[in-house]
Amino acid sequence: MRRKMAAGNWKMNGLSANLAEVAAMNDAAKESDCDVLLCVPATLISAIDDAAPDVVTGAQDCHQNVSGAHTGEISAEMICDAGAEYVILGHSERRADNGETDKCVHEKTNAAWAAGLKAIVCVGETLDQRKSQNTLDIIGGQLATSIPDLATGENLVVAYEPVWAIGTGLTPTTDQIGEVHDFIRMRLERRFGEGVGRSVRILYGGSMNPKNVSEIAVVSNVDGGLVGGASLRATDFIPIIKTLS
Ligand code: 13P
Repeated sequence: MRRKMAAGNWKMNGLSANLAEVAAMNDAAKESDCDVLLCVPATLISAIDDAAPDVVTGAQDCHQNVSGAHTGEISAEMICDAGAEYVILGHSERRADNGETDKCVHEKTNAAWAAGLKAIVCVGETLDQRKSQNTLDIIGGQLATSIPDLATGENLVVAYEPVWAIGTGLTPTTDQIGEVHDFIRMRLERRFGEGVGRSVRILYGGSMNPKNVSEIAVVSNVDGGLVGGASLRATDFIPIIKTLS
């Protein structure tokens, strides 16, 4: 049985003043039957790790190199050292803003694993790609190239995030979500074998909120959510945690 996961991605939001929100989320996490994860700006990892012992902390990116002359970058080991257990890699905003390719995500995933972090590798199609019926080809290519060979159910989570659903209030139909999640599961099983393929969690992300979480949560092969805007406030995120528990 895969344990459900309610993961928040705070993106470039959050100051120490927001720790009060996290205290309320921690209470919900303590009572929940799912993993509750907050991927926060690097500046907050250590504070949230201290303030919220029942919430698992994560980062939103790491560099592919172990150390060196890369001004402004943060290594996987540094993230781990700050108290994080997970790191989001290949988010579509980083692919768009920073030109990250599948090959780069592959290197970053290896760096994360070498440091002992678990990777949440993001895949997802643009609206044009969906309209031209290329969704599964795009997702298949992203999975094949972004994920290194040594994936396990412990070190990898896959997040399906349609680019057009992120921050827009739009969501795919539950049939569309199910089609992609079933496809991801099939590709994971084919590449890594049934045991590993069945144990990797697949999260849905893109405009998930307290209203739509209950119908998305029951879709085939949806093991939880990667939540942006609705993870910033306890009043939005706690109902999502409860629904996924
Ligand atoms: P929203 O939930 O704000 O659409 O963001 C989703 C996302 O990008 C999570 O990584």
